[in-house]
Amino acid sequence: MPDNICFTEDPGRELTNFLATKKYSAVAVLTDENTRKHCYPLLENQIPAHTVITVPAGEEAKNLQTASSIWKALTDQKFDRHGVLIIVGGGVLGDMGGFCAVTYKRGIDFVLIPTTLLSQVDSSVGGKLGIDFENYKNHIGVFQTPALTAIHTGFLKSLPERELRSGFAEVLKHCIISDASMWNEIRRKSWKDQNWEKVIPHSVNFKLKIVAEDPRENGVRKILNTGHTIGHAVESYLLNHDRKVLHGEAVAAGLIMEAYLANQKGILTSHDADQIFKYVTEQFGKVDLPENGDAEILTLMLQDKKNKGNKILCVLLEGIGRARWDCEISNDEVKGALSFYRGY
Ligand SMILES: NC(=O)c1ccc[n+]([C@@H]2O[C@H](COP(=O)([O-])OP(=O)(O)OC[C@H]3O[C@@H](n4cnc5c(N)ncnc54)[C@H](O)[C@@H]3O)[C@@H](O)[C@H]2O)c1
Ligand SMILES: [Zn+2]
Repeated sequence: MPDNICFTEDPGRELTNFLATKKYSAVAVLTDENTRKHCYPLLENQIPAHTVITVPAGEEAKNLQTASSIWKALTDQKFDRHGVLIIVGGGVLGDMGGFCAVTYKRGIDFVLIPTTLLSQVDSSVGGKLGIDFENYKNHIGVFQTPALTAIHTGFLKSLPERELRSGFAEVLKHCIISDASMWNEIRRKSWKDQNWEKVIPHSVNFKLKIVAEDPRENGVRKILNTGHTIGHAVESYLLNHDRKVLHGEAVAAGLIMEAYLANQKGILTSHDADQIFKYVTEQFGKVDLPENGDAEILTLMLQDKKNKGNKILCVLLEGIGRARWDCEISNDEVKGALSFYRGY
């Protein structure tokens, strides 16, 4: 584990120790409305004199306007280049707060205290930072790693259950593409009963390893998009039709359909594909995708920024624990997968 990521029972003490080793000129804490209420109180007394910046919660706020308000708050506080921003929140706040920090006066240090399961196992690792722009997700951003990431599973206690389950889709993804024995372990229990002390470090270590091999996503890092080629399109499609689902709920649907594609193409056995269909459906149920939406979902998939030219590229599983990337899939194959999902 690199020394800037730690797992801790006491994130406040971790912060105190970290700040004591640095000579920051000022400290600001960034929260959203929910993490201010549920997470900041656990840290408040252990952080030396600081200001708190609180922004609205949710993906809708991950935009230039909120970023401006963060830059403005730092400017109003006369924050200089030797200050540090401590970000207490989920993936939205980590991505946006990190982006604000690394662009403010050409860059100040930032610390991530991820408070959702998704941010603990996924977004706080790998250095991708940014905001949404117009209707494009994560359209403006940079790569940069935090000075410290402190992961405390205790924050998950206040997380709404549906958010917890959504983050679990990324855990499933990590196990399915990297580790058959961990997959066998987690699938014995429901998403609610997982041993987070074990599952979260497992996911973090796996993501760190992949990111170290391919920081800029030219090759192997692409396998982290498993379930996301179809999943993202499903998420956008439902959002366009006022039926917002959580990211992980769409990824769960994507995992099922992409496992089906891999099986149809003869690279994933029916035995392994069936395991995925069964467990993922038990945990997540199914999202409702009417047949007349297939064309729109395909159009959305063609816009995926990971495609090349006019071809849809996808990660396909070779077995539990192994995946290959940049596999071309045809429109008919996608339609077949959607139809399978509806009927499953
Ligand atoms: N940088 C990356 O590599 C990467 C990877 C995956 C996802 N992401 C990004 O992550 C974002 C999604 O992150 P998320 O799922 O954490 O969403 P989020 O940050 O919006 O958090 C979900 C909700 O839970 C609330 N919340 C957070 N922690 C809480 C707690 N401990 N108790 C109670 N409520 C709490 C938040 O206020 C919010 O309402 C997306 O914007 C996505 O683009 C980034
Ligand atoms: Zn995801």
